[in-house]
Amino acid sequence: MSGKYIPWAEPYKIKVVEPLKMTTLEERKHAIKEAGFNTFLLRSEDVYIDFLTDSGTNAMSDAQWAGMMMGDEAYAGSKNFYRLEAAVQKYYGYKYLVPTHQGRGAEHLLSQAMIKPGDYVPGNMYFTTTRFHQEKAGATFVDVIIDEAHDSQSLHPFKGNIDLQKFEDLINRVGADKIPYICLAVTVNMAGGQPVSMENMKQVKALADKHGIKVMLDATRGVENAYFIQQREEGYANKSVAEILLEMASYTDGATMSGKKDLLVNIGGFVAVNDWDIFEELRNMVVVYEGLHTYGGLAGRDMEAMAIGLEESVQDQNISSRVRQVEYLGKLLEKADIPFIKPVGGHAIFLDAKRFYPQIPQEEYPAQTLAADLYVESGVRAMERGIVSAGRDVKTGENHKPKLELVRLTIPRRVYTQAHFDVVAYWVEELYHHREKAKGLKMVYEPKYLRFFQARFERL
Ligand code: F0G
Repeated sequence: MSGKYIPWAEPYKIKVVEPLKMTTLEERKHAIKEAGFNTFLLRSEDVYIDFLTDSGTNAMSDAQWAGMMMGDEAYAGSKNFYRLEAAVQKYYGYKYLVPTHQGRGAEHLLSQAMIKPGDYVPGNMYFTTTRFHQEKAGATFVDVIIDEAHDSQSLHPFKGNIDLQKFEDLINRVGADKIPYICLAVTVNMAGGQPVSMENMKQVKALADKHGIKVMLDATRGVENAYFIQQREEGYANKSVAEILLEMASYTDGATMSGKKDLLVNIGGFVAVNDWDIFEELRNMVVVYEGLHTYGGLAGRDMEAMAIGLEESVQDQNISSRVRQVEYLGKLLEKADIPFIKPVGGHAIFLDAKRFYPQIPQEEYPAQTLAADLYVESGVRAMERGIVSAGRDVKTGENHKPKLELVRLTIPRRVYTQAHFDVVAYWVEELYHHREKAKGLKMVYEPKYLRFFQARFERL
């Protein structure tokens, strides 16, 4: 090894382009006020570079677009369903598949099928919609992620890992019969896109099996997790991402999936399991809430695009360029000394709003403020992942107060070039230079469920 830097590039070229609109500072000040200082309420037309989310914002390949023409739009038994089912069986190894319109559709079905009121569901940090459906089904969610995940400065290579002691303590406290499954997310979105190690997954499965508890994977960004295992975990450097993904899934009993991330589509998801009885319940329920069990709220063409995207997603060069784009932005921000979560995660850079705006207390929404300010400064749209997203305790009504107060710069797959990252880094740095001028927000409208999507704020 010479140690010489070898340049890399995205393994695709651009065939179709979508123009971006630039706005003036005055226009953006007006737009953010109209949007109640919530980037979810901006019109996408008023956004220049959109780093709100990597969900459903993927650019599809020419093969996927061609696949859209192969949609078999039969009500029942569409051939695209069987193609998708075969792809899930091959790359994830689960036996039975129920398609859903997106990830939360799958979470809804799984939660209703497996949870009884009074149950507990442990998980490696919460995700908004996942926890919502678990609680709606009557469960208490318990965070069993390792402590390092809540520390924005910890450099642990697998910050998404489950703390086995915390999991075991919960089993001892409430009893295994009150824990239908442990929800294992790979990667962990709210922790900064942080991965779980294979070793940890193996241990979680062994402990769960010992107590008759199922392990359910949130496979939404599992391909990104597999890539991190290949890069960081001993014994995996020479395995393909596809092989690693299959091994990961082998330590679980089923999965929910938002295809809008890893699977390179704009809509779609599924729930897949190995257990016939759970499958039967899911299949009974899908016809009530989503659609027949061979389309689950999707058109045939959507299932075809997802099956093709699934195959593309596990190609090593696809996933390595995806994560290297995120790392590229991280390097630029690092050079400028911007505070963000390290190590860099798989799908986004998470700015540390507590350190960016130390003068703004958590009650005045530092991350919400930072996301709004970045938009006004530059037209770049990001997302709050702090106290607003964390919501309230369902029992006490008190605000959850997460240790992490973050702004997520989320990278859509195959959409932006390095020049866009240069622009984003430049504007984040500009904002950082006059950070002491920032003033917080107050919430003036709070929706009942998943408040971050529609809450409104005013400047203090
Ligand atoms: N699980 C994880 C880890 C997610 O990140 C998401 C969505 C879901 C489940 C739900 O899937 O949106 O298809 O219903 N995350 C999006 C985001 C919304 O921006 O991170 P969905």
